Amino acid sequence: MRELQSAKGVTDRRQHEPVLLRELLAAAEPAEGERWIDGTFGFGGHAAALLERGCVVLAIDRDPSAAPRAALLQETWRDRLRFVPGNFADMAEAARAAGWQSVDGVLLDLGISSGQLDDPSRGFSFRWDAPLDMRMDPSDPRTAVDLLHELDELDLARLFAVTTRPAESRRLARAVVRARERGRLRTTGDLVAAIGAARPSRRRVHPATRAFLALRIAVNDELGSLERALPAALRLLAPGGRLAVISFQSEEDRRVKHFLREHRQRGSGAEKISGAPGGFAREARFLPSGEEIARNPRSRSARLRIGWKERTEEL
Ligand SMILES: C[S@@+](CC[C@H](N)C(=O)[O-])C[C@H]1O[C@@H](n2cnc3c(N)ncnc32)[C@H](O)[C@@H]1O
Repeated sequence: MRELQSAKGVTDRRQHEPVLLRELLAAAEPAEGERWIDGTFGFGGHAAALLERGCVVLAIDRDPSAAPRAALLQETWRDRLRFVPGNFADMAEAARAAGWQSVDGVLLDLGISSGQLDDPSRGFSFRWDAPLDMRMDPSDPRTAVDLLHELDELDLARLFAVTTRPAESRRLARAVVRARERGRLRTTGDLVAAIGAARPSRRRVHPATRAFLALRIAVNDELGSLERALPAALRLLAPGGRLAVISFQSEEDRRVKHFLREHRQRGSGAEKISGAPGGFAREARFLPSGEEIARNPRSRSARLRIGWKERTEEL
């Protein structure tokens, strides 16, 4: 397979450049003494910026490989940074354990980091032939290979439909079933071969890209975690608190957009026409600048949405 490189010799794990950082800081205005949850610590780029602004940060990541980086930042920031391994959907428990009743901000920078993507052994990328793992938390019970062998064709089509059109997702599901019947579906390269056979394409985006993304989303139940996290964040936010979510694909962005709209308060006091107390007073969306995309092409598809929870006087 020409497009696959050997995993050997890959030592350059590029550091993760925080996406839409300038926009986040300018709009959400994290301030001295505020309590923020960074639910997706990763390489700690956003967390470091919050700390530099004087915030106290409760950082969460379900990938234990984030812990050493957190330990490094703790050397500088001491008890202003606390790291909790786990799922951001459980942020309420993490906040309670830290003794926090409420927070001033919650940041979720969804997906995986460059470090995870560029680590051949994790099986997130089809640039190398490696076991199809894709778990963010390696202690989770099910790998991508397990999922591809457990699901029937209909459920496989549902899995791929998160990132592809229905006809394409059915074709991908059929290709997976055929490959596993031949006993050839264990590595990233096997999946690329199966999909390449199913969908020869001259298009710019590699045919495997969307299939790999859908599989990763399913292995890590990324949409389920997001759906549990959004209401948890809203409940935790103090009046005037900010919920900031950076997403990289449309299913996630759609869920965030609908959540913010659903919990939006229109007007204030007597003019308020809908919504329960404690919703968002306003919301905004931000895209990366041309300059950021040129510097960091992975930011291309990023969307930042921020919701500002009502202040007490707006209730
Ligand atoms: C895009 S990276 C975040 C990068 C980070 N903002 C930075 O500046 O370095 C996403 C991180 O979130 C973690 N992650 C994704 N989903 C998660 C979840 N449901 N719970 C906890 N961590 C999650 C991934 O393991 C990854 O480290």
